Amino acid sequence: MGGGLRGAAAKKELGAFYTPDSTASSLAGWAIRTGTESVLEPSVGGGALLKAALIQAREIKPFGGLRQPLACDIDPIALETLRNELGKTVEFCLGDFLELDPRKFRKFDVVFANPPFTRNHSIDVYRRKELRERFGIEGPAGIWTYFLAHAMDFLVQGGRIASIVPGSALFTRYGDAFLRRMCRSFLAVNVYQLAERPIWSGGTEERGGILLAEGYFDGVCSKYVKGVWPPSSKQNYESSRELQAYRDLSSAAASWRSRVDQYRRRHRMQFCVPVIGGGACSV
Ligand SMILES: C[S@@+](CC[C@H](N)C(=O)[O-])C[C@H]1O[C@@H](n2cnc3c(N)ncnc32)[C@H](O)[C@@H]1O
Repeated sequence: MGGGLRGAAAKKELGAFYTPDSTASSLAGWAIRTGTESVLEPSVGGGALLKAALIQAREIKPFGGLRQPLACDIDPIALETLRNELGKTVEFCLGDFLELDPRKFRKFDVVFANPPFTRNHSIDVYRRKELRERFGIEGPAGIWTYFLAHAMDFLVQGGRIASIVPGSALFTRYGDAFLRRMCRSFLAVNVYQLAERPIWSGGTEERGGILLAEGYFDGVCSKYVKGVWPPSSKQNYESSRELQAYRDLSSAAASWRSRVDQYRRRHRMQFCVPVIGGGACSV
């Protein structure tokens, strides 16, 4: 963990309560699957999530690594501390994530986030109005909704988001509206209550939850699924019907492709492309 914030007031203002390592590592287990993903951390703080992602990637690919992750934060001290620790393996970006223009950045496979714990009423009135209009979000939404709505614009097709969210995401109207909105862009959206209240570095009482969304622009899902994190080994990660159907279809397509390849190899089949005035064949 670590990080460079000064006092409790500064922490509260920045919504800076860092993720405990155990939660970070269980989330990294879901987010990092190949070890070579490109990762965006929009509010990196002390780097708990980013470090967990780097560790998970190294476990999967000891000689590979994440494709230079991008880590942003508005807190210059936290960012400088982390830069000294992680060096050039990570690209750092100092500033307000909500003001980053996604067109000026590459796209990412994974957004791995714990946005600031800033509630609706603590967002400056003018900023709140501007954010609501920009992202088309209604109700007393905390800043996490704007962070995640903006983060989606940085994802590749098929990308995923693993994020800590406030516990209120699970039981408020605005949380429900936001999760249903995510269902229109992802194949699966799951939201979890944390089985135990984490001990956030910085000392907030926030209960916290986990939001996992995958298959960005691969399709939509009819509803989001609720559960408890970490899922028990029996329960595992419950997929939406749409995600399961998509996985079945992808694995059917992959097995079909491999059978065609085998058939081609076995019969040294030639595929002919008819060309006007002659014929061209390729093996
Ligand atoms: C809840 S902490 C999470 C830090 C880290 N992601 C983690 O999981 O431990 C939120 C972080 O958001 C940063 N932050 C607050 N407002 C921000 C903004 N507008 N743009 C980028 N970062 C911001 C804070 O400085 C703080 O480091």
